[in-house]
Amino acid sequence: MPDHAAAKLEILPVGGLPEFRPGDDLTGAIANAARWLRSGDVVVVTSKVVSKIEGRLITVPADPEAKEAARRKLVDEEAVRVVAQFRQTKITENRLGIVQAASGVDNSNVAAGEVALLPSDPDASALALRNGLRERLGVEVAVVITDTMGRAWRIGQIDAAIGASGVRVLHAYAGEIDGQGNELAVTEVAVADELAAAADLVKGKLGGTPVAVIRGLQLVDDGSNARKLIRPVDEDLFRLGTNEAIAQGLREAVPLRRSVRQFTDEPVDPEVLRRAVAAGLTAPAPHHTRPVRFVWLRSDDVRTKLLTAMRESWRADLVADGFTEEQVAKRLSRGDILFNAPEVVVPFLVPDGAHAYPDERRLACERTMFTVAGGAAVQGLLVALAAEGLGSCWIGSTIFAADLVRETLGLGEDWAPLGAVAIGHPAVLPGPRPVRPAGEGLLEL
Ligand SMILES: Cc1cc2nc3c(=O)[nH]c(=O)nc-3n(C[C@H](O)[C@H](O)[C@H](O)COP(=O)(O)O)c2cc1C
Repeated sequence: MPDHAAAKLEILPVGGLPEFRPGDDLTGAIANAARWLRSGDVVVVTSKVVSKIEGRLITVPADPEAKEAARRKLVDEEAVRVVAQFRQTKITENRLGIVQAASGVDNSNVAAGEVALLPSDPDASALALRNGLRERLGVEVAVVITDTMGRAWRIGQIDAAIGASGVRVLHAYAGEIDGQGNELAVTEVAVADELAAAADLVKGKLGGTPVAVIRGLQLVDDGSNARKLIRPVDEDLFRLGTNEAIAQGLREAVPLRRSVRQFTDEPVDPEVLRRAVAAGLTAPAPHHTRPVRFVWLRSDDVRTKLLTAMRESWRADLVADGFTEEQVAKRLSRGDILFNAPEVVVPFLVPDGAHAYPDERRLACERTMFTVAGGAAVQGLLVALAAEGLGSCWIGSTIFAADLVRETLGLGEDWAPLGAVAIGHPAVLPGPRPVRPAGEGLLEL
């Protein structure tokens, strides 16, 4: 593919255009004012005039406060998603997929009691104008419709293409060789945006010249339009502003935890596991106590010894229950996850600080209170692991083999195991579980 650069370009303002109002004939006005148009020219049009003739002007109250409230409402209505908010300015994605400040709602170059919305389909508007100019003047031109946009990593705004027809909007250089023999890998020039920005140099911002013509480009029409310039969400590493990303991360932290039962061989970073345990231990507990301990089975010998002993004890229970050998084997295989997981942590409850009561009823209540605190800490660990990108599955088995666990691990008799947590890098990333419908499982009395 040849270079996209032209040998020489002219950028010609189209003077003498009227102030446009809804229903006006933009094509006719441009055809009259630029009879000198030639095939191969690019007609670059400020979206504001397209908005005006397409009736995208909204009447707003004269009172400044009411006007601002109306403008903000329009920004919200035009947005499908708020990407970021910086002070009073919302950066949004609009229905067209365009990400820009204030959903493109603008009150520059419109009457005092009005604001303008973006054209509803600027690619279609560009095509219609191109067809209209062909009909009126017999010329084959390209049309680019522009809007002024900020740039995330640069100060200052420039014009970009929000509608295009008749021009290849992107010029890909991948696979081309430069003058020094280097192969270009990723360069893809946003030609339509460059045309938009170049035309702004003669159109300006103070309203006099909404249309310019760029002459001299080797026009290639590949049927593309400005929508092609919009980065798909899944390729957008910065699809949310920092504050919005943090807020979403916080919201997703709890549903992100899901039981993961298949892990990769990738080792777990011990620091990450320690950090998650530390986070889990921030869980609430009665009487300002710290009744939870996490025992990390780092030695293969210890882990195998414990799990084998538990398996044998479970086997004995199942045989006593009358299960067949086959059924027993099937059940026991459910415990394989703890043999195979990259790491296993066994949570314990130690009733340090639990109140002593003379009666069994209150003693049992106190035990329940500590047990739920243990559950809170385990859930905290699982959520913290998920937030670190680690998968986990809480397995209940040690609860059924408390004496054996204490004996094998050499722990005191008041240490109550609360299951075991298998931990590793998930074989498949499950993503956050959709939260339950609001109100389900919730009684509001
Ligand atoms: C106390 C407790 C014990 C559990 N024991 C097991 C178990 O032995 N084996 C297992 O595969 N999952 C076990 N789970 C995980 C549940 O099966 C799992 O949480 C449930 O299916 C919901 O799926 P989710 O965790 O992905 O939301 C246990 C969960 C809890 C809270």
